[in-house]
Amino acid sequence: MNNENIILIGFMGVGKGTIARALVKKSDYFAVDTDDLIESLENKKIKKIFLEDGEPYFRSLEKKCALWCEKNIKNSIISTGGGFYKQENIKKIGKIIYLQSTFEKILEGINSSPNAKKKLKKRPLLSNLDEAKKIYDQRITEYENVADIIINVEDWDENIAAQNILKALSK
Ligand code: S3P
Repeated sequence: MNNENIILIGFMGVGKGTIARALVKKSDYFAVDTDDLIESLENKKIKKIFLEDGEPYFRSLEKKCALWCEKNIKNSIISTGGGFYKQENIKKIGKIIYLQSTFEKILEGINSSPNAKKKLKKRPLLSNLDEAKKIYDQRITEYENVADIIINVEDWDENIAAQNILKALSK
């Protein structure tokens, strides 16, 4: 592996954070999450930022976060919010791994988790599933286009996903 960051992108609930944690266990990398960085900066949950300050404000924080990541993060795994892939400088931050799954499998994964309710509740853009499906359909080719590596994660096993990512990176 070289000194680049690894950026995990993909739709809400696909398992970016979970797979980042599995990657940390299997490598020397440390990981950060862009939503966590934004929440700690604002001292507010993403849901509350959307509600009180609006989505455009959240996107402006994502942009700041992306610029900060480019300048300050090295040799790390960066898991991102589902819309972070739109950041203009994303290619400059590191190698982009798109975690790919169908909309149905993503929902299945969320619903079968012990804290499914919490996972749905904390994501404002998943509150209306018809709208969420529209966002998914709009984004899939964009995710593919920006990705350096595409990893299918439909079987919902974070350890296999992490292994597949490490294998792809070592090629
Ligand atoms: C968003 C995804 C969320 C969070 C915000 C917006 C999106 O992150 O950044 O609610 O636009 O897809 P997750 O992908 O971790 O759910």
